[in-house]
Amino acid sequence: MAWIGKKKSVIATSLIAVVSLFVVVVNYSEKPYFLLEPVFGQTFSSHWMFSRQTHKAFKPHLGYISVPKQEPLKLHCEVCSLVSSSGQMLGQAAGPEIDRSSCIWRMNNAPTRGFEHDVGHRTTLRVVSHTSVPLLLQRPQYFFGQANDTVYVVWGPLRNMRKDGKGIVYNMLRQAVEKYPQARIYLTTEERMNYCDMVFKKETGKDRIQSGSYLSTGWFTLILAMDMCKEIHIYGMINDTYCKSEGYRKVPYHYYEAGSRDECAEYLLHESAPYGGHRFITEKAVFAKWAKTHSIKFYNPPWKLS
Ligand SMILES: *[C@@H]1O[C@H](CO)[C@@H](O)[C@H](O)[C@H]1NC(C)=O
Ligand SMILES: *[C@@H]1O[C@H](CO)[C@@H](O)[C@H](O)[C@H]1NC(C)=O
Repeated sequence: MAWIGKKKSVIATSLIAVVSLFVVVVNYSEKPYFLLEPVFGQTFSSHWMFSRQTHKAFKPHLGYISVPKQEPLKLHCEVCSLVSSSGQMLGQAAGPEIDRSSCIWRMNNAPTRGFEHDVGHRTTLRVVSHTSVPLLLQRPQYFFGQANDTVYVVWGPLRNMRKDGKGIVYNMLRQAVEKYPQARIYLTTEERMNYCDMVFKKETGKDRIQSGSYLSTGWFTLILAMDMCKEIHIYGMINDTYCKSEGYRKVPYHYYEAGSRDECAEYLLHESAPYGGHRFITEKAVFAKWAKTHSIKFYNPPWKLS
């Protein structure tokens, strides 16, 4: 009888293995999803960006292409901590909590060294503005050598990112990868840049270009995070009414630039700039709206979301 029991369990195990394999194959053989697809030709509902199949873990994202191989970005994150570059990070001791999340995202060249207690140690991914690429290249050995497990996602306008030899930022990145072949650098495609503009227009009713503004790195970061992370924890981001509230905390615009202009002063300046500003406050109001339908939580300062 013993051998029958054993045989049964062997059959059961094989069956489980075959079924799992089938599930894996089905998942992988799905057409690589492309963000433009689920949007165009559909009404713009609050669920459009984060479809029912939840996040796109492990599915290559065609909106972000590696340098120089042009492979789509693959990333798997359960909980993403998005660490803002704001001076709000200072003195909150959020570092240990941030370090416990599966993925830690930062922006531009925001440093960790010397700020670990407030911002954490690890960096899974950096979303980098084309204008900040020269800042990374001031310390290439650190960013692309030592931190070679970090994924860099760079956004920028086509004029700087074009691959025909005329894109100055693309050329810089190309050279960096030649020198540091293990560096993991991805570019936001032109289609994806247009998509991010379109989202701004849909959400605010304003044309980004006509209103003379630039999207912030935070905007590109949150749009990417909503595709790649099951749960998003945002640290150090103020809400859209913060700067109008009584006795708000005055902090430097960037935690690593002590003595720089106060955050709210910088925000107000940008919000009203007729040309070339970021609409940080408008963007925050949109983020609050997204947080109602997606798993996004805000810490230090907390946002009360109804
Ligand atoms: C990659 O990073 C690790 C950890 O910092 C370092 O030990 C290793 O030398 C780096 N590899 C290269 C090729 O730079
Ligand atoms: C926005 O921030 C201010 C200041 O921290 C706070 O008083 C207000 O309740 C916040 N609003 C929301 C919706 O979280």
